Amino acid sequence: MATNMMVVETERELSFAERLQLSSRREFLSTVVLSAGAMPLFAQQKSINPPQYSAKVMRPANVHDIAEVARRTVDPATFDYIEGGTEDEITLRHNVEAFQRVALRRRVMVDVSEIDTSLEYLGQQLQAPILLCPTTKNAIVPNGDRVSAQAAHATNTIYHVSNALGWIDELYQANQAPVWIGATLGHVTSRQAQGWARRHEEAGASALVVTVDHQYTPNRDRNIRNGYGNYAAGVLRPTTPSVTWDYLEWLRSGSKLPLILKGILTGEDAELAVEHGAAAISVSNHGGRAFDGAVPTLMALPEVVEAVGGRIPVLIDGGVRRGGDILKALALGATAVMLGRAYVYGLAAFGQVGVQRVVEMLTGELKVAMGLAGIPNLAAIDRSLVRLPWER
Ligand SMILES: Cc1cc2nc3c(=O)[nH]c(=O)nc-3n(C[C@H](O)[C@H](O)[C@H](O)COP(=O)(O)O)c2cc1C
Repeated sequence: MATNMMVVETERELSFAERLQLSSRREFLSTVVLSAGAMPLFAQQKSINPPQYSAKVMRPANVHDIAEVARRTVDPATFDYIEGGTEDEITLRHNVEAFQRVALRRRVMVDVSEIDTSLEYLGQQLQAPILLCPTTKNAIVPNGDRVSAQAAHATNTIYHVSNALGWIDELYQANQAPVWIGATLGHVTSRQAQGWARRHEEAGASALVVTVDHQYTPNRDRNIRNGYGNYAAGVLRPTTPSVTWDYLEWLRSGSKLPLILKGILTGEDAELAVEHGAAAISVSNHGGRAFDGAVPTLMALPEVVEAVGGRIPVLIDGGVRRGGDILKALALGATAVMLGRAYVYGLAAFGQVGVQRVVEMLTGELKVAMGLAGIPNLAAIDRSLVRLPWER
């Protein structure tokens, strides 16, 4: 790491702000040394900073800054593929804005000297309510899926992956495989679905997730303009239009793994998902990449949570860029959030450590948000923590 820092920091003259940062870092380190004799005080105020990577990786202050590094690192068409949504990108914008519009009713004078973000989800013990969405990454960096899986392993999170077969075995052998969930958009025949489910169970998946909101290839205007991928303007091209509730039976005939549905936005579909035996659902609109005009996820969350009534975990993905966003989602009833673009920006900017940095940064931000909101652990989060914009 020291070598990395040296390389990065001698690339050019340091700015005044960077020199100030460096000298305060030195000051901080000498304070740590000086206060070593005052351990009880120091222990009580122990830092929750994530591990240090190179200065280049540590410099961005937040996910937005990491997105900017990603923008400068990959070619413009690839960045548009990551960042963009469908058509006028209304749902994409509203996903993010919905989080910004919800306010936190912080409480004070609560003992928050210990902040615990751990939870259990589908039998897995997690350090934070943060999972990694399925995203198509091999076009972004070579072996993007595998690299992200290694980052998930390093940060002890669950990874959703659509093309793990072929390399996941190597990660098991190297003891670098995360808890992972096989992801699909569906299959045309029951035989294909059955075979897919069986192969993923045999390969070590802990669950299967079906993304249910991508029946047709959407209009991705940015990609069409850039000639990126296989997109065409206003042409009805099927992805999985015939997938219905029976599909879950097809998967069950190939595997006993828990089934998760990603892409639920209404109470009605949430109820059907429970009736059809889903083990969990994710409130998702594909990050505004499928149907422009679909309801923003945070706005859909309360009706889904109400319909589910605690029978299965409810996840949410779409628009999560800050630890405070996670707190808001949990206050509205989510068990955990799934990151999409946030970690893909990290991957495009810095590779594996970029993904790790994003997970750790958001975990850190969540802890700070909980500390400042008077919330020592996830069980203490409830609906009273948030005020929605339409509640005066
Ligand atoms: C580059 C990229 C590729 C994606 N590919 C898939 C995919 O193959 N399958 C899927 O279910 N969702 C896919 N998604 C959607 C994500 O799983 C997730 O729903 C979305 O990114 C969440 O919104 P957010 O990016 O605002 O966090 C992709 C997202 C991105 C950014």
